[in-house]
Amino acid sequence: MRAAAIAQPNIALIKYWGKRDVVRNLPAVGSISITLRDLFTEMRVQLDGALTDDQLTVNGEPDTGLLPRLSVCLDRVLGQDRDPACIESHCNFPIAAGLASSASAFAALTIAAAAAADRSLETSELASLAGRASGSAARSLYGGFVELENRADDIAVRTLRAPAEWPLTVIIAITASEAKAVGSTEAMEMSRKTSPFYSSWIEQQPHDLATARDAIRQKDFAKLAAVSEHNCLKMHSIMWASRPPVVYWNSATMACLGTVRDLQAQGLGVFFTMDAGPQVKAVCLPDHAAQVSEALAGTVGVVDLMESGLGEAARRITTP
Ligand code: PMV
Repeated sequence: MRAAAIAQPNIALIKYWGKRDVVRNLPAVGSISITLRDLFTEMRVQLDGALTDDQLTVNGEPDTGLLPRLSVCLDRVLGQDRDPACIESHCNFPIAAGLASSASAFAALTIAAAAAADRSLETSELASLAGRASGSAARSLYGGFVELENRADDIAVRTLRAPAEWPLTVIIAITASEAKAVGSTEAMEMSRKTSPFYSSWIEQQPHDLATARDAIRQKDFAKLAAVSEHNCLKMHSIMWASRPPVVYWNSATMACLGTVRDLQAQGLGVFFTMDAGPQVKAVCLPDHAAQVSEALAGTVGVVDLMESGLGEAARRITTP
């Protein structure tokens, strides 16, 4: 009744923003992401009938903030008549700061919970279950370049390219490490209900998905860069035009975009993307990573840098 799993966060290049069904947490649009290699969440789940309630520690400290969402996820995987669980989470990057910590957390939890109860589920079922908890978590069940497509009343996720087929490097510029003020579900609903740009976002997404899919197939970095940056800026424009506006950026976010533009002008293979937080992710060709890293480290307001290659799917691990 004990099992562990590890999952890497993923960064969307063609973003998921908006839900077509809030209760079932189904995304309004498809998305394409890259799974990272060097950031991780490890989850250990022990089902224990002697406990009265679920318990959670995060990096060794008791934590109650995330527990209700983890409990609901366990109910979905195991049924509400399950035994209470003792959950230990270990994460090597800032939580809830726009670095997709919920993606890796729910992907790892779903696998660990099913394994602890000796349930053998297909990856597609695990992805659907993880996606019910956090839309982006479904993509962490797969490695490399990953596409999530909408199906009638579900999602379908697949790898478009394995990480070794087109190794890219991601440099993450941390511009603030506190948790974000507005969660993504609330912000998405605000966008859907109030942003004048929301409907054109939904209309244009199939075109952006097709362009990115082609770019990944052709390993065309310039094409992937152009569509990814545009898609990211469209997503943030929807938020800025919501009422009340949702602005995740800070002045260092803006300074990082300037740095990436300067590097592009020097001919380097790099582009930016940002999610529901102020951090800037610079996706680059591995040969250019050192220069990108140095330039971002020297950008005013950057407090830390993380670097990652592209990684594999979430998986069960054995623990001592
Ligand atoms: O999975 P959620 O509910 O945390 O939403 C993720 C939303 C973005 O990170 C902004 C975009 C994406 O596709 O990951």
